Order: sequence, then structure tokens, then C-alpha cells
Amino acid sequence: MRTRVFSGMQPTGNLHIGNYLGALKNWVRIQHDYECIFCIVDLHAVTVYQDPAALRAKILEIAALYLAAGIDPKDCSIMVQSAVPAHTELSWMLTCVTPLGWLERMTQFKAKSAKQESIGSGLLQYPVLMAADILLYQAGIVPVGEDQAQHLELTRDIAQRFNSLYGDTFVVPNTSLPTVAARVMGLDDPTQKMSKSATGLNHAVGLLDPPDKIRKTIMRATTDSNPAVDIPNAGPGVINLLSIYQAFSGATDEEIKAQFTGLRYGDLKKLVAEMVITHLEPFQQRYREITADPAYLAAILREGAERVAPIANDTVHTVKQRMGLYT
Ligand code: TYM
Repeated sequence: MRTRVFSGMQPTGNLHIGNYLGALKNWVRIQHDYECIFCIVDLHAVTVYQDPAALRAKILEIAALYLAAGIDPKDCSIMVQSAVPAHTELSWMLTCVTPLGWLERMTQFKAKSAKQESIGSGLLQYPVLMAADILLYQAGIVPVGEDQAQHLELTRDIAQRFNSLYGDTFVVPNTSLPTVAARVMGLDDPTQKMSKSATGLNHAVGLLDPPDKIRKTIMRATTDSNPAVDIPNAGPGVINLLSIYQAFSGATDEEIKAQFTGLRYGDLKKLVAEMVITHLEPFQQRYREITADPAYLAAILREGAERVAPIANDTVHTVKQRMGLYT
């Protein structure tokens, strides 16, 4: 049996090059080496209020972006989390083996809850639902960006705790991070992670941004006070631009050093912008073709859910038996 891969994205905000380089690009690279399930995690999205109509549209947009990036629906399952009820079912059972302290320690919870006036309890449970997503399919590999590494550690802890309480049940998954651009930083503020929820005008390059907008955002990126690229002494803004270029181009560290050392920042930015545009143009073209056929998209999501539901239901059945629940 091929090792299973599971990963997902929240249908909120606009997907950006951080999501692409941190996760989506790697999904495409490994999709034929493993049995892959790529999810649109709508139940995670509602841990903060979402406009219902906008959420529904966003789910389809993310599915189309997966396909536009090159995910092959013949070989991979693309599915929406809420279409397979076993995610929420397993989430409850895992909640019951998860100490509160483990959840309160999560940096994303701390950051997100600090921004809210009233904190929904779903925000605290968020990583347990994420653990359920992964453990439900006995996934061995979870390709994500670096910001999800702590949630993956928690998933491993939950799996191990369940296994020690009730006997070997879950595969303990491994995290797979990209070697370059595991954490793409905001272009306006390279000390902050590029984020879908950030509002700054020049913060992120969206995957669906037109070329002019991409050029503007990158040309305005924050750098530092050095006159030109000097990699050992470069600030976080320049390092961020170089790693974006490197991840899109596939160049080695040596090639990047040779190509960019001594280059003025204006020229660096031009090269980065053209590299990003060259990659996103065909991607956006495919996106337009896919969204022109909503029935195709709906069929992909239906088939995905139908393909994975038996795996999920099997796990829930086993978990119920192990816990002594009524089956
Ligand atoms: P989400 O929707 O915030 O992000 C989707 C993916 O993009 C990666 N990512 C980044 N990578 C590099 N640089 C960045 N600035 C950047 N921003 C985001 C994320 O690491 C992620 O891989 N909790 C998850 C969704 C989720 C999930 C799962 C993932 C739910 N269940 C099970 C894996 C397995 C999230 O909010 O991702």
C-alpha cells in the first residue's frame, strides 16, 4: 500500500504565494508518489465568523486553485471537509484525550485569540480537528508550511496518547516542510508571516493577482538600507525576496549567490516580479478554464468525498470499538 498523504487549506481570504510555495507546490511535486488527499477545510474556516455566501464561493475557488496548480484529480482525492462527517466525529473523540494545556500552548491560538474580543471555543479546538483530519486517513506524511509544524507536533502527541490509552490505532504522521520558502514573509513587513488575513495593501502576492498588481507589490517590498545584495549581511526583506525567487526558479543556493550578489535592490525586485508573473500566468489561465465549468468542479469534489469516506468511516468504526463506544 502506498503511504498516504493528507493536507488542506482554509477557504478564507485570498491564497497567496506563501500558500503556494509552502504547501501547494509540494503537493503537486509528490502527488504521484503517494496516495494523496487534499482537503478544503471549511469547518476550520468557521472558527471565526464567515459570511455564508462568501464561504461557499471560496470553497469552490480553493478547489479550482488546487486543480490550476496541477493537482491531478484522477490520482488524488480533492474533497471538502464538511462533506465527510467522520471528521467532526473523530474530532470529538480526540478532544476527549487532549489535555487543555496542550491547546492553550499553541502559538496560533494565542495569536488569533489575542485579536478577537470574544473567543469562540472552536478556535481552541482547531488543532484537534486538524489532528482528526490527518489521523482519520492514517496519513504518514503531511506536507505543510512551517507555521503548521506546531500543530503537526500536537497531532503526533494526540495520536501517541490515544495509542497508549487504547492500543495501536493511529499512524503517527511525519511533517514534510519545503527546503526553500517554508515561511514566506509579508512583503510590507518581513518580520511577519505572509498571511491571508493580513489587510496591508502591499502585504502579499495573491495567486490570482494580475501582473501589474504583482509588479507593484513586489517593487514596493520592504528591503533594508544596504545599497545592493550582500547575502551574508542581508536583512529579512531581501532574504525573503531571494527565497521567493529561488523557490519559483528551482535555483541552488550557489546559483542564487552568483546571480544576485552586488545587484541593486530595484533590479532584484524586477527579476523577482518577472519570475513570479511567469509562473502565475499559466496558472491563472488554467484557473479561468476550470471555473468556466462549475459542473466539472462539483463532480471532482463529489468523487473525492466518495472515494475517501470509506477510509474515514473505517477509522471511526475502529476508534469506537477501541473506546468501548456503541457500534
Ligand atoms: P492555511 O489555510 O493557513 O494555509 C494553507 C497552507 O499554506 C501554508 N502557509 C505558508 N507557507 C509558507 N509561508 C507562508 N507565509 C504560509 N502561510 C500559509 C500553511 O502552512 C499550510 O500548509 N490549519 C491549516 C489547514 C489544515 C490542515 C489540516 C493542514 C486543516 N487541517 C490537516 C494539513 C493537514 C491552515 O490553516 O492552513
